[in-house]
Amino acid sequence: MDNNINPLILDKLTKVCLCKSITRATIKDKIRNGALTVEKVAQSTGATTGSCHGCRCSQKISDLIDGYVNNEWS
Ligand code: FES
Repeated sequence: MDNNINPLILDKLTKVCLCKSITRATIKDKIRNGALTVEKVAQSTGATTGSCHGCRCSQKISDLIDGYVNNEWS
């Protein structure tokens, strides 16, 4: 993969919740705006409410929240 791809573009292309087609950019935006639990992200985006009931995305959302809290991304 091209290392020069803008991280923001990658976030917009990467689906965190596959069932609901919710991108990493959308999830990060909600986290930045105070959704610091998986439940809050779920309420504001619909993530975790798809056919897998969050089996495939809850951990990824939790990891993104942890990364934000630990200042690993902005
Ligand atoms: S991947 Fe998010 S609910 Fe299935």
